Amino acid sequence: MLKNLWWPVEFSSNVVDRPLSLQALGQYFVLFRDSKGQVNCLSDLCVHRGGPLSEGWLTDDKDSIVCPYHGWQYGGDGQCTKIPAQPQRNIPTKARVDSYPVIEKYGYVWTFLGDLPEEERPPIPDIPELDDPQFKRVEGSYYWKVNYERALENGMDGSHAAFVHGSRFGNIKDPSVPDFDVTTTPWSGLSTIPLKAPPKNLGGLWGKLFKFKYKKEVGDGPVLTHVKAGYFLPNINVLYVPLPIGNMVLIDAHVPVDENHTRSMYIGLRDFIKAEWADKDTHKRIQDIFKQDDSVLKKQRPEILPYQLSDELHIRSDILQTTYRRRRNELLDQGWGIDMHQIVGDGPRDVAVVIPSPARKNNPELANAWVHKEVSSRAILGGSKVETATNAGGQTAYEIEES
Ligand code: FES
Ligand SMILES: [Fe+2]
Repeated sequence: MLKNLWWPVEFSSNVVDRPLSLQALGQYFVLFRDSKGQVNCLSDLCVHRGGPLSEGWLTDDKDSIVCPYHGWQYGGDGQCTKIPAQPQRNIPTKARVDSYPVIEKYGYVWTFLGDLPEEERPPIPDIPELDDPQFKRVEGSYYWKVNYERALENGMDGSHAAFVHGSRFGNIKDPSVPDFDVTTTPWSGLSTIPLKAPPKNLGGLWGKLFKFKYKKEVGDGPVLTHVKAGYFLPNINVLYVPLPIGNMVLIDAHVPVDENHTRSMYIGLRDFIKAEWADKDTHKRIQDIFKQDDSVLKKQRPEILPYQLSDELHIRSDILQTTYRRRRNELLDQGWGIDMHQIVGDGPRDVAVVIPSPARKNNPELANAWVHKEVSSRAILGGSKVETATNAGGQTAYEIEES
């Protein structure tokens, strides 16, 4: 998993003036909204005896969190401000926990999990539809036992639609995917994927809509839909689906609880049938699509996305995923991958390791002020960084074919 990126980790509406426990990237955090309405994100591990701050409470002014074990108080900046057992003594410099920058945007809480100074941080993605009042919005979560990168790649995988979702979108009678390209930035990849609309006997509301379009325009022939799909690092999928009566947009933020569990926080937007009664139907459709994906992804092996491109076979229609893998490998190569084995373990451990927060690097006077250790960079699994575009191991099947 990657540090030094803005991770959407929670819906804004869920964070109030009470401690909220969060597990993300294997680590435990606590979120709370203070008296100014600002959301704070701290490491959920008191430096005294490892008490869980999220089991504590906020001070009356709502600006500090109280550890439930011996009552130490921490402000939103992670600095301990009160040690009740010895009020007459100075508070040690090391009495602080990591505090991670937070921004609220598009209804998500974004936490910067890493230690880069502000000016070097990658951007939060630009998804204007999420602020556009012409769209009706629903939000919800789907929890599954998959690695978040498997979920993320699945969300940009056009060619599985006909097979996994043939009853909903994609067309099993014509699963071919014409070639398409990817538009990239260092932090995103987007494609317009030509897909066939579902067979005309599809059930439900959308099926009826397509049936109507079939009759009117092409009789029994397949309707070509241009779906826009892609990713924003570290964990977001976007999917734009033009329907006969309007536009549907699906945003998924796949939050890694740990290496093998993901909470996909979805936002569904539609600019048609905006009445409340249709929200329930939208939730059900989104959840059903996740369930269809889940039935395959839960048995996908290896569970974690391979580092070596040559460990799986990529064809032309996988171009979005291979673009993603190359970019994530570059970030792993530059040391942004975190060693999950230090943060998450199978059993009890005797050392606390956390993702470093910006204060560790950017305040020289705090250089030695940390009790908990900083997580190491992930060792590259499956070999060293041998793969580049210049050797066959790093090429995809379609690149070899085309060269
Ligand atoms: S463990 Fe938190 S105050 Fe002692
Ligand atoms: Fe799917």
